[in-house]
Amino acid sequence: MASTVITGIGELTTNAEETGTRTGAALVLDGDRVAWVGPEAEAPEADTRVDVGGRAVLPGWVDSHTHLLFAGDRTSEFAARMAGEPYRAGGIAVTVEETRAATDVELAENLRRHVAEAVAQGTTCLETKTGYGLTVADELRAAKLAATEVDEVTFLGAHLVPPGQDADDYVDLVCGEMLDALAPHAGWCDVFCEQGAFGAEQSRRVLQAAAKRGLGLRVHGNQLGPGPGARLAVELGAASVDHCTHLERSDVEALADSDTVATLLPACDLSTRQPLPDARALLDAGVTVALASNCNPGSSYTSSMAFCVTTAVLQMRMSVDEAVRAATWGGARALRREEGDGAVGVLCPGARADVHVLDAPSAAWLAYRPGVPLTHAVWRAGTRCT
Ligand code: NIG
Repeated sequence: MASTVITGIGELTTNAEETGTRTGAALVLDGDRVAWVGPEAEAPEADTRVDVGGRAVLPGWVDSHTHLLFAGDRTSEFAARMAGEPYRAGGIAVTVEETRAATDVELAENLRRHVAEAVAQGTTCLETKTGYGLTVADELRAAKLAATEVDEVTFLGAHLVPPGQDADDYVDLVCGEMLDALAPHAGWCDVFCEQGAFGAEQSRRVLQAAAKRGLGLRVHGNQLGPGPGARLAVELGAASVDHCTHLERSDVEALADSDTVATLLPACDLSTRQPLPDARALLDAGVTVALASNCNPGSSYTSSMAFCVTTAVLQMRMSVDEAVRAATWGGARALRREEGDGAVGVLCPGARADVHVLDAPSAAWLAYRPGVPLTHAVWRAGTRCT
């Protein structure tokens, strides 16, 4: 692969320094890595020179929470919600039915389409989950397909107890045969720890069984009401607890004392008519915060990380720097990919060449011009995608 020097940068966000941004800098990409960052006047030669005309440059978005292995949509459920119906975990079963009925080709095509849609908006690293199969064969199919398109695959067999099945029997299946089949095909295991899905003890069993097989842990928690998810995530050393819409003071304190990232999913809260999470309380307590899209057909059908950043700034009292960092470095940290060779969410020598050029002089425009598509160019692992 050839090298590229990016010049004419208006504002560069690297996430690698104390100060969030710098001006007058250039960036060299060599193959799939960042090779050099420094003052433009000192930039080394490269095969190609791209002058971005004073635009802002940042690491590609790291979307650390999506559910892209699905078929169908849930427009009517969404419409009913907008007319006053509450969001219920049980809606997942509708997508399970459609996903099981889809062919491999249909599922793969749907996945590809959503990944391409995300990349075109500046997302360069994606996690996605199984969880719309809920049988050994369907979960395995989802994990194998996911691995062809995304950076991180999460096994979410414990998304919902399939209708008509006994909850404890299903947890036995997840902890045994399902994990045995899925563990070689996933890096992570997640559990929907919420009323209407899995209780604390059931969730603990699944996560402990996954940890025994070497999987990293993630938790869906505190989405629809206060509950044990965040505390369980901390207790078991999970990399991330996602949603965090209904946290109590003790949850925030437990997170602040831990390495568990609080991943906030504001598009989901808006789409399910939940309150937005108290990002300020988390940040002020010293919790590491990530922002992610939660793209899925039920609770959050958007792949737009920019929308999440905009919402975080305009409605969650996060500064632009905090929101951009949470959607890049924070997501990387939630996936434990923020440092070392090939790190994502950062722009420094050795990091993966994941670059997002905004059609704006500064990242502040993400909030200043809400809803306006601002992606000008994207490199994913050194390949120019837009
Ligand atoms: O993260 N909370 C559980 N899972 C998804 C919702 C999936 C669905 O409704 O289909 C979420 O919001």
